[in-house]
Amino acid sequence: MNNVDAILQAGLAAVAAVTDLVELEQVKARYLGKSGELTELLKQLGKLPPEERKAAGATINVAKQAFEAAHNARRDALNAQKLEAQLAAEALDVSLPGRGSVGGGLHPVALTLERISGLFRSMGFEVADGPEIETDFYNFQALNIPENHPARAMQDTFYVENGDVLRTHTSPIQARFMENNQPPIKIVAPGRVYRVDSDATHSPMFHQMEGLWVDEGVSFADLKAVVTDFLRRFFERDDLQVRFRPSFFPFTETSAEIDVLDDKGRWLEVGGCGMVHPNVLRIANIDPEIYTGFAFGIGLDRFAMLRYGVNDLRLFFENDLNFLKQFN
Ligand code: DAH
Repeated sequence: MNNVDAILQAGLAAVAAVTDLVELEQVKARYLGKSGELTELLKQLGKLPPEERKAAGATINVAKQAFEAAHNARRDALNAQKLEAQLAAEALDVSLPGRGSVGGGLHPVALTLERISGLFRSMGFEVADGPEIETDFYNFQALNIPENHPARAMQDTFYVENGDVLRTHTSPIQARFMENNQPPIKIVAPGRVYRVDSDATHSPMFHQMEGLWVDEGVSFADLKAVVTDFLRRFFERDDLQVRFRPSFFPFTETSAEIDVLDDKGRWLEVGGCGMVHPNVLRIANIDPEIYTGFAFGIGLDRFAMLRYGVNDLRLFFENDLNFLKQFN
């Protein structure tokens, strides 16, 4: 029994020395476990003479309680330390300055569209629009496209319920605008169009812009002047060569393809145009004996590719940030 105090002091010192909870529990086992040092003393009580047992038992219990108290205090302290360390590690200083933010930018096709509509606005054109789900009437019939025209075939046109279509071009906006407005009419109409087509130069959804000028005395010379002026300003080249190549569209007569000469001496087709067909004017209740007009349609994606040197149309629709960032 003379050992009790020595054992307790050693135990308290061991408790004070531990640095984590696992070690602390090992120390506890060493003193209070099944064969711990203080436990062993209790087991030996029976060997003492009966008159000494009570006092000895009390002494050991006091030591045991002291050890337990020290153990609990140490455990609480270690838990508190642990919590503090965790809080410090997870601390967030909301007053620190940010790491810088990356600004978004407009899509190259949107930039091209803004640039082109700006150029036409400066020439007195208004911007008009129309629905992407279009009726057969506006997409085809009002544009003098006959029942048996190949553009109406399922392999070219996306049909939706009740015979409506995803518009295959922006030309139906012409028909809608003329129906609701009398000349002078001077509009451009940009938008998404859809065709059953997909490869490096064709996407099932792409962008066009329609142009239309209807008034008394509008001639093919006006068409050439407006389109040539637009193209020279768009490509920022006063000497840009522009060619009007005879062609056919059901909604124009005469009709032409518009070509520009690139720096490598190649003619690139950039759109179609022509004098609005008298039937198209008549369907819209505009008298072709009084009024004439010209129309044109250009591919906005094509213009964006030429302006930014993009060689695969699909890049415009993949939303790859590394590609898009270049236009910020
Ligand atoms: N709508 C034609 C197309 O999608 C393009 C076009 C050609 C529009 C001639 C016109 C035009 O207004 O006059 O292929």
